[in-house]
Amino acid sequence: MRAYLDERAPATPCLVLDLATVRANYHRLRAALPEAGVLYAVKANPAPEVVAALAAEGSGFDVASTGEVDLCLAQGADPADLSYGNPIKKAVDVAYAHARGVRRFTTDSDGDLEAIAEHAPGARVAVRFLVDAPASGTPFGAKFGCSPATAARLLRRAAELGLRVDGLCFHVGSQHTDPAAWVAGVEQAAAITRAAGVPAPALNLGGGFPTGYRTPAPPLDEHAAAIRAAVAEHFPTPPRLWVEPGRAVVATAGVLRSEVVLVSRKSDGDERRWVYLDVGRYSGLAETENEYIAYRLRTPHDGGPDGPVTIAGPTCDGDDVIYQRTPYRLPLALRAGDHVDILDAGAYTASYSSVSFNGFPPLPVHVVG
Ligand SMILES: Cc1ncc(COP(=O)(O)O)c(C=O)c1O
Repeated sequence: MRAYLDERAPATPCLVLDLATVRANYHRLRAALPEAGVLYAVKANPAPEVVAALAAEGSGFDVASTGEVDLCLAQGADPADLSYGNPIKKAVDVAYAHARGVRRFTTDSDGDLEAIAEHAPGARVAVRFLVDAPASGTPFGAKFGCSPATAARLLRRAAELGLRVDGLCFHVGSQHTDPAAWVAGVEQAAAITRAAGVPAPALNLGGGFPTGYRTPAPPLDEHAAAIRAAVAEHFPTPPRLWVEPGRAVVATAGVLRSEVVLVSRKSDGDERRWVYLDVGRYSGLAETENEYIAYRLRTPHDGGPDGPVTIAGPTCDGDDVIYQRTPYRLPLALRAGDHVDILDAGAYTASYSSVSFNGFPPLPVHVVG
């Protein structure tokens, strides 16, 4: 990625994505948890090249919309390997996916379950429950998943409606650094399965596997060992396991190169400088909302004297401030025109960039490897 940036010097801002790293991350996950099937969460990085590379490696896909269904099929995925994991969908979208061969759906409500029964008759269905676990780095809140009692009832209802009950699923929230969150999910899934009283052969553990940004994250093996032990403890017959990783597959495969637009001080004597980059909240750095994700930064002056900074994007929106509470220091030599590389930026960046807010175009993606 660095070589591509140095040799080609593409216009900034841009994201450079390395497919070799994507493949390596996929296989690292497979090796850590070989008993689990992988459904790559397309939302993390929907670059067609990423989807094609993962399809070629044998990955399945977690899709959230008909657009992602079409993307995966166009890149060579088998519809049998697609799981429509978004419990919020229109009946017409269920019908569309079913017509294209998708046979696996996730639900968390009666209305959605009825739509699946009507428009995807005989499909496999997983019920998502709201896991009771400590919050992750980028929490979902209460938007997805139902209570354990409702999940048990929906499993029974799915069987009554003639659907194939796959089992349960949960998502601990993205960028979760505590393996105990999955342990809680597995334990709750086992209890719901017992309460439901219908066969539930599969358990989808969701995504959430973390990336080490400024703070190192526990290795995948630690999460895998905790999950394996919890499944052995709580399920008399082990279910078929699935994971839906997004970040863990693509984050380290991307470098976002930006350029300094301006360095300024709000008062002449201020120690703190404001560093304005040509990338911000609306051109890819969506996950800096609430300063949830603190990326590692690289500049040409690293190693020299530095000082505290507030880092902001280029638009005329007051919310387009990237870091003002998270302590960041950048070199005192940093000037307009210097590059600032944002590391491990392959997940949840380019696809979040706006079409043209303030006239800034969407973040271009260059694929290497
Ligand atoms: C249903 C579902 N599965 C998987 C993922 C991927 O999560 P992560 O990127 O944390 O692995 C998400 C992320 O939002 C999701 O909503």
